[in-house]
Amino acid sequence: MTSHDPLAALRSRKLAIVGYGNHGRSHALNLRDSGITDIRVGLRQGSPSRAKAEAEGFTVGTVAEVAAWADAVSILAADEAHAEIWENDIAPNRPAGQALLFCHGYSIQYGLLDPAPDADIILAAAKGPGGAVRTEYEKGRGLIGYWAVQRDASGTARDLALAYLEGIGCGRVGIFETTFEEEAVSDLFGEQAVLVGGLVALAKASFQRLTAAGVSPRMAYIDCVHEMKYLADLIHDRGIEGMYAAISDTAEFGARLCETELAEALGPDFDRLMDNIRSGRFAENWNGEHRAGAPRMKAWRAGDRAEPVEQAGRELRARLKGGRD
Ligand SMILES: NC(=O)c1ccc[n+]([C@@H]2O[C@H](COP(=O)([O-])OP(=O)(O)OC[C@H]3O[C@@H](n4cnc5c(N)ncnc54)[C@H](OP(=O)(O)O)[C@@H]3O)[C@@H](O)[C@H]2O)c1
Repeated sequence: MTSHDPLAALRSRKLAIVGYGNHGRSHALNLRDSGITDIRVGLRQGSPSRAKAEAEGFTVGTVAEVAAWADAVSILAADEAHAEIWENDIAPNRPAGQALLFCHGYSIQYGLLDPAPDADIILAAAKGPGGAVRTEYEKGRGLIGYWAVQRDASGTARDLALAYLEGIGCGRVGIFETTFEEEAVSDLFGEQAVLVGGLVALAKASFQRLTAAGVSPRMAYIDCVHEMKYLADLIHDRGIEGMYAAISDTAEFGARLCETELAEALGPDFDRLMDNIRSGRFAENWNGEHRAGAPRMKAWRAGDRAEPVEQAGRELRARLKGGRD
């Protein structure tokens, strides 16, 4: 009896990975460690990641070079660059029938690129930060994987999606089906409303409120930012109910009152956020920002260092490394 090889659909392909950032590097290393060896990394001219990818044993070319070589291209460059990468580097060089894989439904869902009709369009998304794709894999685990096929030109797109997710380690935890639209909307809403935007807004607003009330920045930082990790770990491991069971009754009672009030207050803002995401207005906004040279992003980043909450965090971390209060 022959055993089923979950990576079979990938073993027969020459795979190009475009981008060697958080996801690109992790995918390339995991796939190689899973036994997929015909991989090349595609980077832009003058890429700061070139030396790293070469030092880690990959053959590196320009995006155009690897696109001319590969049967399948995993586009793991920044979303805002997908359109120019497709138009300038992949479309003019790709062999007919070359498949395209994405780790986020964004650029296809919002029409940033319009791949050729002979291209499979595949979502193979490890759900979480790119660095965790590698660190979890190294621990013998993986991130949850989601797959979708927007176009199955070859008739084998599903097999390729599943093999790819197996290769990066998602099969160790769970692989689920989705659509490009569902993944794009859910990912954007989750990161804006909760995981990044919501969390940061709550942390900064509560830090400001506490310090305005006379609490020391260090204490405010510990209570509103530093401790987040312990609660997030509890929710990750046991769910929200399990987290409530693990904290004091005082904390739970106050939190349940606040939870209800905040959820009601946030309703209109969440409606607006969802509308912006679904309608494509958020994507238009981000495209415009990118085309203009990202002035708002640069200003926000430049302002971070001077924020009192950042100052409090830096001082706390410096203190914790070496000493005691
Ligand atoms: N499914 C999920 O939960 C999830 C989570 C996070 C990210 N993602 C997706 O994964 C993809 C990559 O994200 P990431 O976090 O790995 O990003 P990242 O760490 O910022 O890496 C981006 C990579 O894109 C490259 N790049 C940027 N502009 C380029 C251009 N014009 N031409 C060629 N390469 C360019 C960068 O090149 P250099 O090395 O030369 O700077 C870098 O290697 C995105 O589609 C993102 O949405 C999905």
